[in-house]
Amino acid sequence: MKDEPASTNLLTKMDCAFIRKEPFGLVLIIGPWNYPVNLTLVPLVGAIAAGNCVILKPSEKSKGTEKVLAEVLPQYLNQSCFAVVVGGPEETQKLLEHKFDYIFFTGNPRVGKIVMAAAAKHLTPVTLELGGKNPCYVDDNCDPQTVANRLAWFRYFNMGQTCVAPDYVLCSPDMQERLLPALQNAITRFYGDDPQNSPNLGRIINQKHFKRLQELLSCGRVAIGGQSDESNLYIAPTVLVDVQETDKVMQEEVFGPILPLMTVRSLDEAIDFINRREKPLALYAFSNNSQVVSQVLDRTSSGNFGGNDGFLYMTLLSLPFGGVGKSGTGRYHGKFSFNTFSNHRACLISPSGLEKLNEIRYPPYSSQAQKLLRWAMSSHSCTLL
Ligand SMILES: *[C@@H]1O[C@H](CO)[C@@H](O)[C@H](O)[C@H]1NC(C)=O
Ligand SMILES: *[C@@H]1O[C@H](CO)[C@@H](O)[C@H](O)[C@H]1NC(C)=O
Ligand SMILES: *[C@@H]1O[C@H](CO)[C@@H](O)[C@H](O)[C@H]1NC(C)=O
Repeated sequence: MKDEPASTNLLTKMDCAFIRKEPFGLVLIIGPWNYPVNLTLVPLVGAIAAGNCVILKPSEKSKGTEKVLAEVLPQYLNQSCFAVVVGGPEETQKLLEHKFDYIFFTGNPRVGKIVMAAAAKHLTPVTLELGGKNPCYVDDNCDPQTVANRLAWFRYFNMGQTCVAPDYVLCSPDMQERLLPALQNAITRFYGDDPQNSPNLGRIINQKHFKRLQELLSCGRVAIGGQSDESNLYIAPTVLVDVQETDKVMQEEVFGPILPLMTVRSLDEAIDFINRREKPLALYAFSNNSQVVSQVLDRTSSGNFGGNDGFLYMTLLSLPFGGVGKSGTGRYHGKFSFNTFSNHRACLISPSGLEKLNEIRYPPYSSQAQKLLRWAMSSHSCTLL
């Protein structure tokens, strides 16, 4: 948080250059429903650390958490600096009409556009944590059970309602044949013979999302799972095969316990497929050949990258978290949160005297003086020492 000294050139040798991290002022944080505690409180901590006041708008869809946050936070935070606003899209629209100094939004790209348009009216800077379809490439040179365990874990975690979950798998037809029994094995080991009775599986957030997901079950062919129970908002951990690129399940972010497998003939074809689409929030590659993992990393772009595993990178405070392109803009977690909520103010304080030294920069300009001035501006003191 301290002022950070910056290097000077010869022309500013007598000056003091530094970066001051100051709060933006009033920050609006709009949280989502899928991890309603973490995805509101983690940005809130960053905003507080950087010295801002905050209006927190939790999602109205995760009603229980919304209620708790609205009740509990005012007991711990100074109410003249921090407020929780409850309500749905209408309240959010009203909030967004006001001028904030920073807006931090986590949610889907559709609402992200509304937030960004509202911010643009006041030229308010934004961080947008969005999502998209995260590809997962599985190379032939893999142990199917190892991959299936990791895949099943991070696809079905939180009932698939995770923005960094693998959205679809790209692999060869041969690998698909080997993955299917391994996935079935992992699902049964994790959630038992009847996953609906498992204490380790959540439920779909609401009926609207349940209906949307149920529709996706009719894409391609169900290879594993496929059962659903509306009275319980339950959808079984599901794997789909024979999926076409034009199917609905390949058009929208799945955000549920459904994993489509798409076959490709080669690594090149997989990379082409990934690069034809929007840049994802996360991209995964599995291979026992580290060169294959590096190739996927080198020839694609995404906000985050996982080689041979799921979203463990999210647990490292040393890594910035965020999207790129349509999957979001801006980064947070750990120190990156502090930076996100700070205005990095560039400061240079010159001596009030020593006017004689400035003469070199005033007209009229002789070619000699110009040369000297250019040299003095370009030479960093460290290169001279
Ligand atoms: C939520 O945040 C806490 C604190 O950083 C962390 O320990 C926990 O693993 C996070 N949970 C999830 C599901 O991300
Ligand atoms: C709450 O914040 C206001 C405004 O910064 C300040 O004047 C007041 O002293 C704070 N109250 C407490 C209990 O810290
Ligand atoms: C890589 O190969 C080793 C040895 O065969 C195996 O134990 C491991 O599970 C494989 N890893 C992956 C990601 O396939």
